[in-house]
Amino acid sequence: ELNSIFSKGKPAANRVKNEIKELVSKRVNLGNRPPGLGVIIVGENPASQAYVRNKVRSCAEVGFKSLLIELPVHVPESMLLEHIYGLNLDNTIDGILVQQPLPTHINEFNITMAILPEKDVDGFHPVNVGKLSLGRLNDTHVSCTPLGIIELLSHYSIDISGKHAVIVGRSNIVGKPLASLLLQKKPFLNATVTMCHSNTKDISYFTKQADILIAAIGIPYFIKMPMIKRGSVIVDVGINRVDDALSNTGFKLVGDVDFGEVSREAFAITPVPGGVGLMTIAMLLRNTFNAYIKKL
Ligand code: GUN
Repeated sequence: ELNSIFSKGKPAANRVKNEIKELVSKRVNLGNRPPGLGVIIVGENPASQAYVRNKVRSCAEVGFKSLLIELPVHVPESMLLEHIYGLNLDNTIDGILVQQPLPTHINEFNITMAILPEKDVDGFHPVNVGKLSLGRLNDTHVSCTPLGIIELLSHYSIDISGKHAVIVGRSNIVGKPLASLLLQKKPFLNATVTMCHSNTKDISYFTKQADILIAAIGIPYFIKMPMIKRGSVIVDVGINRVDDALSNTGFKLVGDVDFGEVSREAFAITPVPGGVGLMTIAMLLRNTFNAYIKKL
């Protein structure tokens, strides 16, 4: 039996949050305004509402100002754009986030393009994606979940350099930016990266070779025990709602990994909930703080 460490997000996220809280209080004590995050949500998707509540609460915890703009599901794209232009011009707002997914009548790319790259704390703007790809990490914002994964591994002293990282999932929010990040020529990155996705043939052939396996495909229990290498590190990015008659909400959250069986063979595995999700929010705060410092 391997000595599994269960890599929870809470201690790592709290360390980041406390660090930011202290830095904010120093700036505010010097007479500066606090960092500000503008959050826009369109419609009433319960999962999105939960994420956004969490983001707004986390801002308060570290001393940020937050501005929540809630728009009805049928809001015209032009009106959503007007709100973004307003936040772009607002000198008390350092970061702007439009919660995804958006209703189908709104073009997500137009929305992403409208946010000033320096305020794009999600790291979705093509300028920021391009800079990540070019290795210019110091003057860009990187997508929060990939950053959170690196921070989590680093918190638990899990070495990435030279390791084979296999990413399952090719989204613009997680899979692709994570691959770019892991590939960076830096002492604590430097991974060898393989990308798999829903059309990969014989996915087990690849996942079994992973020293670090990142599951970000959005399918509950997708990664099962026979698919992993014994003693590997498993990062579960999935947040899937599955029916659960025993829960008073009628559902429970599960990851992309079949935790029960995989945890017996892995060296370390992140739980859902309480794993990567907490790190994502911590990195949103860090990106917003970095934008604030650049502007101060
Ligand atoms: N939806 C799921 N993840 C994210 C994220 O990181 N940012 C935004 N804006 N929407 C999301």
